Amino acid sequence: MYTSTTLFAFIGALAGIGSVSGHSAFFHPSMWGFNVTDKDYPYDNRPVAPLRDYTFQQWWFHNHLDHPPNPGDFFELPAGKPATAEIACNKGATSFFASSEGGDIREPNNPNNVCPNSESIAYHTHGIDDLEGCALAIAYKDDVNQVQPEDFTIFSVNQTCVWTRFTDFSVPAAMPPCPAGGCICSFFWIHSPKAGGEENYMNGFRCNVTGSTSTVPLAKPQVARRCGSDPENGKLQDVPGNCTYGAKQPFYWLQAERNNVFEGEHSPPVYNDRYNFLDGAQTDIFEGFYDSIPEPAPNAPLPVAKQVNSPSTETSPTASPSGSSSPQPTFLPSKACKPKKFPSSSAGLQRRSFEEESTGVLPRSWTAGRHKATVIFLHGLGQVNATWQMAFSKALTPYFPNVQWIFPQASEKRVSMNQGMLRPSWFDIWQLPPHPEEYDERGITESVSAIEDLILSQIHLGVDPRRIFLMGFSQGAALALMVSLTTLNELGGVISLSGWLPNAYRRHITASPSIPILWCHGTDDKEIPLPYGRNAMQFIDSLPGADASKTELKIYRGLQHTINDRELEDIAAFLHLQLQS
Ligand SMILES: *[C@@H]1O[C@H](CO)[C@@H](O)[C@H](O)[C@H]1NC(C)=O
Ligand SMILES: *[C@@H]1O[C@H](CO)[C@@H](O)[C@H](O)[C@H]1NC(C)=O
Ligand SMILES: *[C@@H]1O[C@H](CO)[C@@H](O)[C@H](O)[C@H]1NC(C)=O
Ligand SMILES: *[C@@H]1O[C@H](CO)[C@@H](O)[C@H](O)[C@H]1NC(C)=O
Ligand SMILES: *[C@@H]1O[C@H](CO)[C@@H](O)[C@H](O)[C@H]1NC(C)=O
Repeated sequence: MYTSTTLFAFIGALAGIGSVSGHSAFFHPSMWGFNVTDKDYPYDNRPVAPLRDYTFQQWWFHNHLDHPPNPGDFFELPAGKPATAEIACNKGATSFFASSEGGDIREPNNPNNVCPNSESIAYHTHGIDDLEGCALAIAYKDDVNQVQPEDFTIFSVNQTCVWTRFTDFSVPAAMPPCPAGGCICSFFWIHSPKAGGEENYMNGFRCNVTGSTSTVPLAKPQVARRCGSDPENGKLQDVPGNCTYGAKQPFYWLQAERNNVFEGEHSPPVYNDRYNFLDGAQTDIFEGFYDSIPEPAPNAPLPVAKQVNSPSTETSPTASPSGSSSPQPTFLPSKACKPKKFPSSSAGLQRRSFEEESTGVLPRSWTAGRHKATVIFLHGLGQVNATWQMAFSKALTPYFPNVQWIFPQASEKRVSMNQGMLRPSWFDIWQLPPHPEEYDERGITESVSAIEDLILSQIHLGVDPRRIFLMGFSQGAALALMVSLTTLNELGGVISLSGWLPNAYRRHITASPSIPILWCHGTDDKEIPLPYGRNAMQFIDSLPGADASKTELKIYRGLQHTINDRELEDIAAFLHLQLQS
């Protein structure tokens, strides 16, 4: 049978429980088999019963396809927000106790108890440190009979599942809407091998994505591969190249048919970092998230996320593994798309023009910078300074040999937009696009003064402040602007790449510092849309003492939240011009 008699004896000995306890299931009226009891089948096929050694028909949807949910019952998945599921070892321990066999067994003093009157071993864990995570998967089909195992994509993981009855699953913000009849979802769980017989859990249910603002479909899900450290099996190192990146299928394991993983009983596949199922929303499951995904292998290069600072890049695994082959941003100039020309869509806005017709090759004379100068570049949220240093080392810095380039690195801060995860960040961000009024006063004040200190140290080294430039991308651009619009030093210029200027900071800006500003922005930027750039430039140009001839907004048609070769040339041209004056 699917579970060992010794385990049941153990559970019984621990807690003296009856048939109400053991295992765990997702409970919601939207599920198939919501009302199945131990009387409905010749074998225990309640939703909580584990699945092992079964035929496809027996394990798929728990063999509950003949027990559909009532029409109109959906489990709602609010895009960008958590969906709260109820997980319990018995329906009587959930809000849906009314239709359970034994009535309400919830524990009044601890509503989060997954299995009242039982030890945690009854739901297969020895304690909070022995949890291996569970997951929700989605298929973008509304007819359950059309859904195949290969159609399910894991979109959310909770690595501390099944510790609390109310378990939050973060829904990726970029989830597209479901078909007219909704979507088909499923709960999956495989517990720790230390806590009893190894088994699979699957509860299918009807779901629907709400509040969606995206139309990008999910990518085709692949089988998840083992790639994280596993000290208990003698693997002390992560092997990031071996990971499956992007959309991943659930594990189908230990059945008689249609398995997709074949790990041994005592090293089960798990919904956590060991299989690159990061805790929370799975943000990289969408088509086009990665430029390309190399074939996984222990020594394979890591994939490159397409948008340098998309919200999903924050949790992208490309940024985390250290010492492995470095991820490269997508705008490296050697690309095949080099000849692509962007029409000068910004013509109407230009107040000053230089080097409009780009040649793709920078004049040699530009290397002849006469004096010492410094460019301080501030990276975007979740980014690593080395990425930008590498990118510029090919396309930009060689043309300015007398300029010192400084790439400060933001420290790791809790980022609200990323569920409080620690990310390299100059200040807190709640959402992208940022709400114009959101403002992390403390973080911004600290980062502004850190950059001011950096400027001062350059001045102390003898650099003329008028030859010090601030440049930044996205969040780094916002910081570069805030510093340069309020600093008492007369700086050489500021370059904002896909940036914005928080409204709350604008109150500190009383007059135009008359600093040359180059603002570069793509028309297709979804993280920091172009109107943020226009609005900030209008504000700057309306300040007392503003000199519109010193500010320039460059717009790049078709460009998303990243930079391209044309932009690099414009940056070079701007720096060159300012350094000559
Ligand atoms: C489950 O049982 C309850 C109580 O009999 C009933 O109201 C409900 O419609 C049933 N749900 C399903 C999906 O069969
Ligand atoms: C997992 O669920 C718990 C309990 O609801 C919740 O506190 C936690 O934030 C969830 N974790 C994630 C990553 O969503
Ligand atoms: C799913 O949610 C969307 C957005 O709220 C709604 O328009 C649609 O009618 C829902 N679909 C179903 C089948 O309930
Ligand atoms: C790579 O992944 C495969 C498939 O999950 C696994 O069998 C293998 O052990 C992994 N190799 C390493 C070095 O982690
Ligand atoms: C990146 O930042 C680190 C400090 O966190 C620093 O040691 C390193 O020199 C910086 N890299 C570059 C290229 O400036």
